[in-house]
This record gives sequence, C-alpha cells and structure tokens, in this order.
Amino acid sequence: MARWLAVARAPGLLQKKLRHVPAAVDILAPVAARYSTTDWYSTPEWYDILYDVDTRREVEFLGDVMDCYGSSRARRGKRVRALEPACGSGRLVAALARRGYSVVGFDLSPEMVAYAKQRLRAAGLRARVERARLESFADELRLGPPFQLAYCPVSSFKYILSDAGARAHLEGVASALAPGGLYVLGLHLTTYEETRLERERWVGERDGVRVICNVQTWPPDRRRRRERMRSRLRVQQGGAERRTETLWSWRTYSARQILGLFAMVPSLEIVGVHDFTYDIERSWDVSELEFDTIFVLRKRG
Ligand SMILES: C[S@@+](CC[C@H](N)C(=O)[O-])C[C@H]1O[C@@H](n2cnc3c(N)ncnc32)[C@H](O)[C@@H]1O
Repeated sequence: MARWLAVARAPGLLQKKLRHVPAAVDILAPVAARYSTTDWYSTPEWYDILYDVDTRREVEFLGDVMDCYGSSRARRGKRVRALEPACGSGRLVAALARRGYSVVGFDLSPEMVAYAKQRLRAAGLRARVERARLESFADELRLGPPFQLAYCPVSSFKYILSDAGARAHLEGVASALAPGGLYVLGLHLTTYEETRLERERWVGERDGVRVICNVQTWPPDRRRRRERMRSRLRVQQGGAERRTETLWSWRTYSARQILGLFAMVPSLEIVGVHDFTYDIERSWDVSELEFDTIFVLRKRG
C-alpha cells in the first residue's frame, strides 16, 4: 500500500477523509459566494475545536520522542523546557504545561496569542506565549535558558516562504536548543508530479459548536515552490450556520528539497523519521520520504 494511503487511513487520525479529484473539476467553486472570506486563524475557537481532536495523541507522541531520542536530563525526570514555534491556539502548550513541561510558545496571529493566553489563565497553567515570527523569533524574543524540546507540527513551517527564512528559522531553533535537544518538525511533503486536486474533510465538535472543515490543495507550482490552499469552515451552533473561507499559498518541499535545506544547517542532524499517525513504532528511512512526515532533528554537541 502506498505510504500516504496508509497514513490517511490510520484509525482515529483526525477522522480525516482524503481524496483526489481532477484539477478541472472544482465543483465547489459555484458555492463560493456563500462563504465569507476571512483568515481562519482570526477565529481561534473554531480552529481549536477542529485540531483538538488529535491533541492527546500528539502530546503522547512528543513524550515518546523524548524517551526514545531525548537527552539524559529528560530521562532523569528533570523539568523539560519546550518551545513551540507557531503555537496557534495553545492547545499543545496547555497540554504539555499540564504534564509538567515548562513551555514557551509564539505565533504571528494576535487572536491566536490572546486565545492561548486566556486558555492558560482559565486553566490555572503557567506557560509563556508571545507574538513573534517563525523567520525571526530568535531576534524578537528573549527565550531564556536552553530548551530540551522544540516542536512544530501540521505543516506550519511551510508558512515560511523563502529558503533564507526557513534556514534562519532552523538556525534560530538550533541556537535555542541545549546540546542533544530535539526539534520535532511535521510537514506535508509535495509530489510535483501530482496534477489532481487534493481534498481533506474532517469535523470537530465541542460545547454545542460543530465545525466542518474542507481543505483543498491545488497541484503544486514547481517553479515558484508554491501550493495554493483553501479551507472552508461550516460552523453550526443553535440551529444557525456560518460559512467562512480562507485562501493562502505556502512553500512546497519535495523530499530532496527538505533534505537539502536540513543540510544547510549542520548543527541539526536527523535522528528519526515518523508520520502523522504519531506512532513511535512507525519509523521510516530518509530514502522513503513521502507525504505527511515528522522529522526528529537533534542538536549536535
Ligand atoms: C496550522 S496552525 C498550527 C498551530 C499549532 N501549532 C497547532 O498545532 O495547533 C498554523 C499557525 O501558524 C501561524 N503562523 C503563520 N505564519 C506564521 C509566521 N510567519 N510566524 C509565526 N506564526 C505563523 C498561524 O497564525 C497559525 O496559528
């Protein structure tokens, strides 16, 4: 079975339905008028309802990664310092803080940062959340003592649109990590031969709010290294429905391109490759890279 198919079919994984359709068949285009255009990160609660479905699994995976690849400090049970670039609604920041990690998160969206801070306050948890950019956080923030763990899941890394920005990000993470510290980086890799549209659908529900998400990815533009994306949300509450749509483009990485980027930051080495099933037992060789990949990078030293 192709690896991407196995991943998409993994039981429980966001209960996502993934399918491909010919690019000419954008059958949803005529209903666009019924969706108001917005930035889906400006409605953190809806985002959080959608992505929270996998939080427990992701946090357990991060614990497994520390056990499997982490430093002796983490194994000795000392308080682990963790950094989350592009932390969004703070769902993982809060979950790790609850498990005793000392966490710092940052994000570009002021709405996400405010929501994350409020959720921490409401839960009585101590963690730091700031506003900063993936490309330049190392210059923008005083991060304090070194971290044993950094993590950036669900392709947020692809919001960095240039190689220089991506390299600066990785160098910033490397400088924030203690020797032997880990960077867990999850992203969807691109197959430039793909000519079909890719559609993913999943649903989240909490406190009477049901959020239905349809994400469409257009075939990649190999020359510009860009992938056009659209997410459509239908939010149902108390018999009413709101519809919003977000359009964006992010940077593409084939397996060769991401390995080439890592090679430019020699202070980080690849020590493990996993996938979005968040199963520490499922690991891959770098020669097998496709689709949804989680890299475990370790700071040399
Ligand atoms: C897919 S969400 C991931 C959020 C969080 N890591 C999670 O797993 O739920 C992507 C996040 O990246 C943030 N973002 C996008 N571009 C960014 C940038 N250049 N610098 C910092 N954050 C950025 C968005 O505001 C959003 O919160």
